[in-house]
Amino acid sequence: MKEIKDKSFEIFISAEALAEQITAVAEQLNREYAGKNPVFVSILNGSFIFTADLLRKITIPCEISFIKVASYHAMQSTGQVKNLIGLNEELAGRHVVILEDIVDTGITMEGILNALEVRNPASVRMAVLLFKAEALQKKISPDYVCFRIPNRFVVGYGLDYDGYGRNLPDLYVLKEN
Ligand code: IMP
Ligand code: MG
Repeated sequence: MKEIKDKSFEIFISAEALAEQITAVAEQLNREYAGKNPVFVSILNGSFIFTADLLRKITIPCEISFIKVASYHAMQSTGQVKNLIGLNEELAGRHVVILEDIVDTGITMEGILNALEVRNPASVRMAVLLFKAEALQKKISPDYVCFRIPNRFVVGYGLDYDGYGRNLPDLYVLKEN
């Protein structure tokens, strides 16, 4: 059990299980992007730990860039992608792999895809730590998924509840009463 602000969370996916799946996805990326010089685009803040762990398992030449969006407040999606900050790299002709912590409604990912596609990359794929397929409202289909999870609120391993809990090494889920 973990208390964060006014809520109780319980352990959901251990650090070891997270590492195992992330390694498997990294190995797949190493094979599929060999010779392609991919550019990883990591979506801050939530993806910072996922990105750091995944990238250390990438063994092929690659670049990494960080962008920031905001569409989620406390526990409810506001349904709107706000500013995209920090996309300075030249992406034309490049193979882009978006790194995102979680796809929930898909609104954020759709906004990011739209923002990236106007820069004419050679390809764009999505690698996500968590996919809440039941919550999806957009036609988004993540290419690499570490874990498919039910439509429940999770925290830890980079994901927050109202700003807190990102530092937890394991992933926790909101306790159902
Ligand atoms: P979407 O636009 O609804 O797909 O939401 C995507 C963003 O909302 C993610 O990048 C997360 O930052 C945040 N988010 C969605 N679900 C959760 C959750 O269960 N816990 C913490 N953050 C979440
Ligand atoms: Mg996020």
